[in-house]
Amino acid sequence: MSTQNAVSAPAVDTHASRVQQRRTYLMCRPDHFTVSYSINPWMEPANPTDTALAVSQWQKLHDTYIALGHEVHLIDPIASLPDMVYTANGGFIIDGVAYGAKFRFAERQPEGPAFMEWFAANGFAVADPVEVNEGEGDFLLVGDVILAGTGFRSTGDSHGELGRVFGKEVISLNLVDPRFYHLDTAISVLDPVEGPNGVEKANIAYLPGAFDAEGQRILAERFPDAIKVSDDDGAVFGLNSSSDGLNVIISPRAKGFEKQLRERGYNPVLVDLSELLLGGGGIKCCTLELRR
Ligand code: ARG
Repeated sequence: MSTQNAVSAPAVDTHASRVQQRRTYLMCRPDHFTVSYSINPWMEPANPTDTALAVSQWQKLHDTYIALGHEVHLIDPIASLPDMVYTANGGFIIDGVAYGAKFRFAERQPEGPAFMEWFAANGFAVADPVEVNEGEGDFLLVGDVILAGTGFRSTGDSHGELGRVFGKEVISLNLVDPRFYHLDTAISVLDPVEGPNGVEKANIAYLPGAFDAEGQRILAERFPDAIKVSDDDGAVFGLNSSSDGLNVIISPRAKGFEKQLRERGYNPVLVDLSELLLGGGGIKCCTLELRR
């Protein structure tokens, strides 16, 4: 970069060439999706749900991953567990080790063992959790550190357990807005990009207002180049997205975020999961990354 550029351009990572990484995901067809109880502010059991629409929207997300070259595994849906479609909550996996989930609310508790059974049957070493935690809903790997949310679902003690299981630095963040009760509703991991020397850059997008002052301070310090999204984009679950380093699957309603991503050289891919939003989940919630 010339000195002139360094002076006139903002100090952000703008048009670096983005590199797509091939991902492996676990998904669950929402054959039994409905909203029959309420454990987050989005869920209103009195409102009707359209299971066929949920399935067709989910199918579009699934097919988008396949079209982008990713590998998708499926876990069988269980009739009594309508939230099982949100596989991100089923565990947290790095290097073939799956830290199991232990759900906060009774309605979802049987999902924990169901996911652990799947992990074990598919060649993952399972770490049985002692502490309450909701998997990748609250834990996000960014480069070599794990961002961990607490305040609504996963406990602070689970952050310690997580650190011991994976031997990685865990950064605890307090969530303060009940609409953004899982970390993956407030932060989107856009990279990392692996280079010859390991992780070369790892950036995120986030909604500052979802965090307490200390969380905002930590995020600003750790991720000075992060995309900060507007409240409007946050409120349509714009951050509940999944990125392969180049393509970022987002809600079509997150107009501002879409523009911010384009400006940074990412390729936003729009997939509408409006029906699944009735359960308080979006794209990322329906996607669990399986890191072998
Ligand atoms: N109804 C589910 C719950 O409240 C939605 C889970 C959304 N998942 C997520 N990763 N944010 O637990």
